[in-house]
Amino acid sequence: MSRNKSVKDYIRTIVDFPHEGIMFRDVTTLFADPRGFRMAIDQMLHPYAGERIDKVVGLEARGFILGGAIAHQLSVGFVPIRKKGKLPGTTISQDYKLEYGEAIVEIHDDAIQPGEKILVVDDLLATGGTAAAGIKLIERLGGEIVSCSFIIDLPELGGRKALEDMGMDVHVLCE
Ligand code: PRP
Ligand code: ADE
Repeated sequence: MSRNKSVKDYIRTIVDFPHEGIMFRDVTTLFADPRGFRMAIDQMLHPYAGERIDKVVGLEARGFILGGAIAHQLSVGFVPIRKKGKLPGTTISQDYKLEYGEAIVEIHDDAIQPGEKILVVDDLLATGGTAAAGIKLIERLGGEIVSCSFIIDLPELGGRKALEDMGMDVHVLCE
């Protein structure tokens, strides 16, 4: 049975987390399974075979786990985009709205060189606010975004359309 499982089958839903009314799509169960985790990384990489990618940028927090594995597989560097106040060096910041709140994300101002080809990675696309803020940070540093890759898209929240309207190529493994 487990041989035929898809990535989606490894993701569990926690009702009312972190707030009432949110159906939280929990990828820790996918990450914890050796077959599931490898399948997810392989499927996220597949569309970019033969493409030039200079760096992988991961969005805090689960984008770090995926982005680290993908960067290792591509033999390229990994750059984190973190919530405000976590990065030790000089940063640039971008505010954004979440499905359940507001936040600010940051990147080190020397993490990307102008013209570098960037793959953006996170676990989930909801409103697209987090990814859009990350994209703005990367573009402010002169990075050229090849694509944005996610495990899950929640289509009713419009994130994919928002990123596509910004001119982004978007790849997701499941909805
Ligand atoms: C989740 C998820 C994405 C973001 C998607 O992270 O991992 O980063 O929300 O939502 P959006 O498309 O509406 O912006 P969260 O903000 O819960 O932060 P965490 O990963 O640090 O827990
Ligand atoms: N981030 C925003 N909305 C989410 C959801 N429904 N599940 C997991 N992460 C999220």
